[in-house]
Amino acid sequence: MKVFSANLENLRSLYINQLQMLLSTEEQITHALAEMIDKALDTQLKQAFQSHLQETRIHVQRLEQILNQAAGEAKPIKCKVMAALVTETEDMVKDAPDDAVRDAALISAGQRVEHYEIAVYGAVRRWAQLLGETAHVELLNQTIKEEGHADHLLTEISERVNPFAQKAA
Ligand SMILES: [Fe+2]
Ligand SMILES: [Fe+2]
Repeated sequence: MKVFSANLENLRSLYINQLQMLLSTEEQITHALAEMIDKALDTQLKQAFQSHLQETRIHVQRLEQILNQAAGEAKPIKCKVMAALVTETEDMVKDAPDDAVRDAALISAGQRVEHYEIAVYGAVRRWAQLLGETAHVELLNQTIKEEGHADHLLTEISERVNPFAQKAA
């Protein structure tokens, strides 16, 4: 029986493969954030998700640009981690009737996504450096900076939202 294989025989093929997976990650986040904006009640949280959705659309474009240049096409490979994170987020939201508790859950879900993105982008950026893809490094740097900013902003918002969640009966 022939099993599908991505043929990761060298660093360049691993690099392209992980860029394709990141493209799927970011595409899934685009849909998830639209849902999270809808479910968030706190105004600042809603705005933070909204502005990160704009940035996420640019993250998709940057990956498409890099992939078109490096592989001649920009095709995603499904990121199963993000699919699982989205399912978990939906479960938490569904099971949290209190507004502040639900916002706290949404913040924690958002931060999980940012940390995952930062971890994968960090590895991919290092490979871009080693492969001499200077222009890619620059684009990936911009995205990583925006992921970090989104994460820090969510930490700040959590400091204000968590005490309300704590008061929920
Ligand atoms: Fe992103
Ligand atoms: Fe992000």
